[in-house]
This record gives sequence, C-alpha cells and structure tokens, in this order.
Amino acid sequence: MPVAMCPGSFDPPTRGHVDVVERASRYFEGVVVAVIANPSKEPLFSVQERRSLLADALAHVENVEIASFDGLLVDFARSKGITLAVKGLRAVSDFEYELQMAQMNTTLAPGLDTMFMTAKPSWAFLSSSLVKEVARYGGSVEGLVPPGVATALSERYGRER
Ligand code: PNS
Repeated sequence: MPVAMCPGSFDPPTRGHVDVVERASRYFEGVVVAVIANPSKEPLFSVQERRSLLADALAHVENVEIASFDGLLVDFARSKGITLAVKGLRAVSDFEYELQMAQMNTTLAPGLDTMFMTAKPSWAFLSSSLVKEVARYGGSVEGLVPPGVATALSERYGRER
C-alpha cells in the first residue's frame, strides 16, 4: 500500500477536509497532508497555525503526517517519493479546476497520479472561504469545523473586532 498526499491550503481546515483525510487513510499505508505555505490568496492563518490545527484535528488518525511545502506540488511529491495525490470533490464545479491541476501535475511529473474522493453529502456545501465569512460576521461555525478551528476563528476575529 503506497503513501498518498492530500494537498491544500487548509485556511482553515474544515470537517470536509478531515473527512477526506480520514477516509483516505484507510486505503493507504500513510497519508501526508501537504499544506501550501504561501497560497495565492493571503491566508488568514499562518502555515504553522494551519499545521497545528490539522495536527490537532487529525490526532486520532495514526498514519497521517502533516507537512508543508512551497513552490510546486510536484517538487514536494518528488522530495517525499510520493506518486499519488488524493483530492476531495464536492460538486461538478470543483471538477474542472481539479482536473486541470491533475493534468498539469502529471504533465510536469509523469507518474504522479491524482485520485478524487467524493465529499460526504453532508459536507458538500462546505468551504474554508464560507467558514471564514460566517465567522467574520459573528455566525456560528460549530459542527462545520474541528473544535480547535472554531476556537481559533473566534479568537482571530474576536481580537480584530
Ligand atoms: O485547498 P486548495 O486551495 O484547493 O489547494 C490548492 C493546491 C495548494 C493543492 C494547489 O494550489 C497547488 O498544488 N499549489 C502549488 C503550486 C503548483 O504546484 N501549481 C501547479 C499545479 S497546477
């Protein structure tokens, strides 16, 4: 059984992310959650914060490792000897961009494959951006994100208000 990676921004991690990593961990010897350090959009949480929120949310899954990278995903994959990315798909709207990235990645690094895992229907509407928007305006994100993320969001926006 190979080791797979779940790359993403995780700004912040949601229950949808946790669900995909948990389920992927059942099919692979290990899963490396690869957190992009500097996503194209300025993140709310630093890479260290996102790593620590993920480590906390996934502490119950033994074969999961949290890592971070900068630059191209294919270079990170090569450095770790990983040849498989697992990405969650919530809806058809995710598919076009995800397919494009998967095809670019396999063009840059032949032998790097991408598999898609369908999101649980209960998390199909969930995104990090919506979670941030709800939290920013004082709405409750409890149940949508791991407890540590809910606390971090209220601290972050509480401090700023
Ligand atoms: O959670 P996200 O924002 O959908 O994650 C996107 C991510 C980080 C997986 C993607 O942007 C990425 O791999 N970035 C690294 C830069 C890269 O390799 N670009 C070329 C791939 S098309």
